[in-house]
Amino acid sequence: MTLRSQFTADPHRPRYHFLPPGNWMNDPNGLIQWQGAYHLFYQYNPAGPFHGRIHWGHAVSDDLVHWRDLPVALAPTQGGPDQDGCWSGCIVNHNGTPTVIYTGVHPQVVCLATSSDEMLTWEKYEDNPIIAAPPAGITRGDTWHFRDPRVFQEDGDWYLLMGASGEGDKATVLLYRSTDLIEWEYVHPLFSGNGSQRGPAWTGTMWECPDFFALNGRHILVVSAHDVVKNQMLYPVYFVGGHEGLRFRPERQGILDYGGYFYAPQSLLDESGRRLVWGWIMEGRTRMALQEAGWAGVASLPRQLSLTEGGRLEVGPAPELGTLRTEGWRAEGLTVGPGRVNPLRDVTGTALEIDVTFDPGDATAFGLHVRRSPDGEECTTLVFEPMAGRFLIQRAQSSLSPDVHREAILVPYKPAPGEKVRLHLFLDGSVLELFINQRQAASTRIYPLRRDSVGLALFATGGTAGVERLDVWQMGSIW
Ligand code: FRU
Repeated sequence: MTLRSQFTADPHRPRYHFLPPGNWMNDPNGLIQWQGAYHLFYQYNPAGPFHGRIHWGHAVSDDLVHWRDLPVALAPTQGGPDQDGCWSGCIVNHNGTPTVIYTGVHPQVVCLATSSDEMLTWEKYEDNPIIAAPPAGITRGDTWHFRDPRVFQEDGDWYLLMGASGEGDKATVLLYRSTDLIEWEYVHPLFSGNGSQRGPAWTGTMWECPDFFALNGRHILVVSAHDVVKNQMLYPVYFVGGHEGLRFRPERQGILDYGGYFYAPQSLLDESGRRLVWGWIMEGRTRMALQEAGWAGVASLPRQLSLTEGGRLEVGPAPELGTLRTEGWRAEGLTVGPGRVNPLRDVTGTALEIDVTFDPGDATAFGLHVRRSPDGEECTTLVFEPMAGRFLIQRAQSSLSPDVHREAILVPYKPAPGEKVRLHLFLDGSVLELFINQRQAASTRIYPLRRDSVGLALFATGGTAGVERLDVWQMGSIW
C-alpha cells in the first residue's frame, strides 16, 4: 500500500480531510458506527489515481476527526459477479453480523458479504448475486443502470433501494423488500424524477447512490443526479417529504452542495441520534496532473444534517472538527469597504477554518479573497452579491497552472431584508468547503502554485459592509 508519508511535501494534499494513503477514491461507502467507532469505507483503486477495478478501502475513527487506515475490505473476485469491481453499497447490522450489500459489475448486480472479525475481512455469499437483474422496464439493450443498494429496516422488514434509470429516461429509485437480506422481492419505484426535461429543477436521467432516512418527523431522500446521455455526474439532490404505502411524496427539493465537486453522499445515524453525511469531493485538474500527483479524490468533512420546524434542511460541519483548531485570530465589529485597511493582512495559511458573519450594509458586493499571493497574481475570490441573490466562488485566477478548472461556482442565495450572512469556510490544501448560513453548501477545488499564495483579505465594493464577527483558526492534521 502507498505510504502517506511520500506525499507530505505536496501542497495540494489536504491535511484534515480524509483521503486514502494514495491512488484513487470516489464514493464513501458502508458508513456505520460499530461498537462506538466510526467506519468509513470508500471506492478505491489501488492500481493508481484513476477510476479502474474498484475495491473498498477502509478507515476507522474514534472521534469522527482522526482516522486510521485499515486493510482493503473488499476486492473483486476473478470469475465472480464483482470481477470488474466492487461498486457502491452499504453496511447493516444483521443480528450482530456486519453485512455489506454492494454493487458487483459487470453487469450491475447486487452482492452480499459478511464479516466475523469486526469488518476487517469479509466472506462473500456463495450464491452471489442476490439480485441478478433489474425489474422489467429498466433494461437498456444489454446493459443497464442499476446500482448502489441502500438497505434499511422498517417494521421488522428489510428494504433495499436501488438507483436506476427507468422507463422514458426517468431517473428512479427502486424499492425491494426482504425478511433475510438474501431473497428480495421487487415492490415498486419509491420515487422517480422528471425525465429528460432540462430546466432549473432538472434531476437527471439516472439516480446514483440513493439514501433515505427520517429527520425530525419527515423523510429525506438524497440521490446523485446523473445524465446518462452525456455520461455526466450532475449534483446531489435532496427531497424533503413523507411516504405513504412506501411511495415517497416530496414537499420540497434542493441541492445538497452547489460546488459541482461534491457527489455520491452517504449518511449515517450515529449512536447519539445525529444524521451525519459524507460526500466524495472530486478533483478539478487534468488526468496528467493526477497521474503526476499520485492521488485523486477526497472525502468531505463530516456534515451534520437537521431539519427546521418549517421543513428546511440545514447543513453544517460536525462540531467535533473544532478539536482541530490550533492558533486562532478573532475580530469583532469591523467595517470593510473601499480604501480601508485589510484586517486580515497578517493572517495566512493553507489549512484554515474561517467563520465570518457579515452585515451586508450598503455594499453591492462583499466577501473574502483566499489563497492570495501578496501581488494578487494568484487569488480565489468568494463574493456575495445580495441584489443579484447569488454567491460566487471565482477561480479564474486561483492558479498559474494551465491544468486546472477555473470556472466560477454559483450558489443562489437571497438573504432576507436585514439578514446577516455567515460564511463558514474550510480551506485545506486544494479543498475548499463552504457553508452559507447553514443553508447552502458548496465545495470546490483550487490548486495555487505559488508558495506565497497564502493570504486572506476581506473586501466590500459599492459601499461598506459590517463584519459582526470573524474567527480564523489554523487547523491541525487528522493523521
Ligand atoms: C457514483 C458511482 C456509483 C458507482 C460508483 C462506482 O460516483 O458512479 O454509482 O457505484 O461510483 O465507483
